[in-house]
Amino acid sequence: MAAIVEVQDLIKNYYMGDVTVNVLKGLDLSFEEGDFVSLMGPSGSGKSTLMNILGCLDRPTAGNYYLRDRDVAHMTDNQLSDVRSTYLGFIFQAYNLLPQYTVVENIELPLVYQGVPLDARTKDRCVALAEMVGLGTRLDHRPLQLSGGQQQRVAIARALVNDPQLILADEPTGNLDSRTSVEIMEMLTELNKAGKTIIMVTHENDIAAWSRRVVRLRDGMVESDIRNDKPLGFR
Ligand SMILES: Nc1ncnc2c1ncn2[C@@H]1O[C@H](COP(=O)(O)OP(=O)(O)OP(=O)(O)O)[C@@H](O)[C@H]1O
Ligand SMILES: [Mg+2]
Repeated sequence: MAAIVEVQDLIKNYYMGDVTVNVLKGLDLSFEEGDFVSLMGPSGSGKSTLMNILGCLDRPTAGNYYLRDRDVAHMTDNQLSDVRSTYLGFIFQAYNLLPQYTVVENIELPLVYQGVPLDARTKDRCVALAEMVGLGTRLDHRPLQLSGGQQQRVAIARALVNDPQLILADEPTGNLDSRTSVEIMEMLTELNKAGKTIIMVTHENDIAAWSRRVVRLRDGMVESDIRNDKPLGFR
């Protein structure tokens, strides 16, 4: 399979006054198209830092990042935001929904940020996505009127509105009970079966067991990289 993501000698430093915090210390990683990867590792090992770079929300200090064959590490802000809206979907631990907006309006948000005019067609698409994640009867609810699992499903629908090739999820089940976590993992598995590449951060082995590959970071380096021949959702 072709690589969708390739990072080479990726370095990320944060500069705080005189102090340089060297967070990523030369990562070499390649993720295949259609893969379902868990990123694990202790708190502070650099998982979110890596996800932010992969998600084009931040730039590496040095090294290369190719998304398909696009040289992302050296793009301008405008090019990065183009890449974000064309190729990437994001799911966060804290859902990151806007409380004053309804389910459908939250799903529409990435389109708004891209400057896509909202019309009957975009609305139909967002309603269809809400239905796909099982929220067809909650279209006009606001986030606080939904359970945590339902809020995360809105976030999944929102991540899909641009039909991204790569989905980045930073602890998508971190705030959910184990039963609801299983629902979310079933949903991610379905997306992966439909061809989406997924990179997910998790602290939990039970959640990583759903993925096809587990990469562990420690102190900004890859500690281990193991394939899982029997992901939970594929048995
Ligand atoms: N903006 C920043 N400025 C300075 N240091 C930072 C910044 N963001 C992160 N760090 C440092 O980088 C290191 C890695 O942080 P990161 O958030 O990537 O860890 P993580 O693996 O996601 O941890 P967790 O499992 O707790 O979410 C930490 O030591 C953190 O203090
Ligand atoms: Mg983190």
